[in-house]
Amino acid sequence: MAMLLKSFSVLFFLCLMLMLVTPRGWADEEPLILDNPEVFAKNKRPAVVFPHEMHMQMVDCLSCHHDYVNGQNTLDADMLEETDPAIRCAACHAGNTVVNLKDAFHQQCLGCHRQMRTSGQATAPELCGECHRR
Ligand code: HEC
Ligand code: HEC
Ligand code: HEC
Ligand code: HEC
Repeated sequence: MAMLLKSFSVLFFLCLMLMLVTPRGWADEEPLILDNPEVFAKNKRPAVVFPHEMHMQMVDCLSCHHDYVNGQNTLDADMLEETDPAIRCAACHAGNTVVNLKDAFHQQCLGCHRQMRTSGQATAPELCGECHRR
């Protein structure tokens, strides 16, 4: 019995150590907060918590990030960096643009989520309150 107890406590200790040293999985990665108060001066909806890391694992970078030249996406996925001015959607979609910032987000996010559902691949948020959480 004492032997059993001892091996249990060893096991418990090992589990504890494992929990402490295991790097945080991608699901726990800090999400991006999508909020553009300078564009949406009168914010009507709460900011959107976007699990970027999760999307990075699932979808090609260039299905979301783009820089069109003659209709061709000229971005190099390996060159995407935080400091890149072309990373912010607002850099090109704020102001008087063909696709305004709200539509840019809604078309991209909802467009894909809808397609995921209709093709039976996954279910992803499509309701206002699922993205604009209070
Ligand atoms: C599902 C869409 C989507 C995918 C896929 C995606 N991104 Fe993003 N990414 C975004 C959005 C939206 C933002 C925030 C843009 C903004 O703030 O206007 C962002 C922001 C970023 C940033 C800035 C991060 C920060 O901390 O502010 C980097 C760097 C980046 N993406 C690189 C990548 C790379 C590299 C990939 C592919 C491995 C990728 N992204 C895939 C949508 C996406
Ligand atoms: C470097 C400039 C630039 C950046 C940054 C940018 N876009 Fe665009 N986007 C464009 C241009 C140019 C078009 C083509 C329509 C137009 O002329 O406005 C476009 C078109 C779109 C469209 C229409 C469908 C399509 O892909 O053609 C959506 C949706 C969109 N952008 C969403 C986004 C989102 C979301 C982000 C941030 C992750 C983003 N864009 C970042 C320049 C940009
Ligand atoms: C190209 C496809 C694609 C695009 C673009 C996309 N998503 Fe998603 N998203 C998915 C898929 C697929 C899932 C479901 C993953 C799963 O649960 O298996 C998802 C799930 C989510 C979830 C739920 C995460 C969870 O923990 O259940 C949120 C929130 C979300 N997306 C927000 C966004 C936002 C905000 C944007 C736009 C900035 C966006 N997505 C753009 C494909 C996409
Ligand atoms: C898949 C996620 C998603 C869903 C679902 C969604 N939105 Fe959004 N929405 C966004 C993102 C991302 C932005 C950009 C947020 C920002 O930059 O402040 C945005 C921006 C907005 C804005 C402009 C910013 C503001 O607060 O004034 C409004 C208004 C808005 N959404 C309303 C709605 C309504 C109404 C619905 C339901 C019919 C809805 N959204 C569903 C992701 C979503």
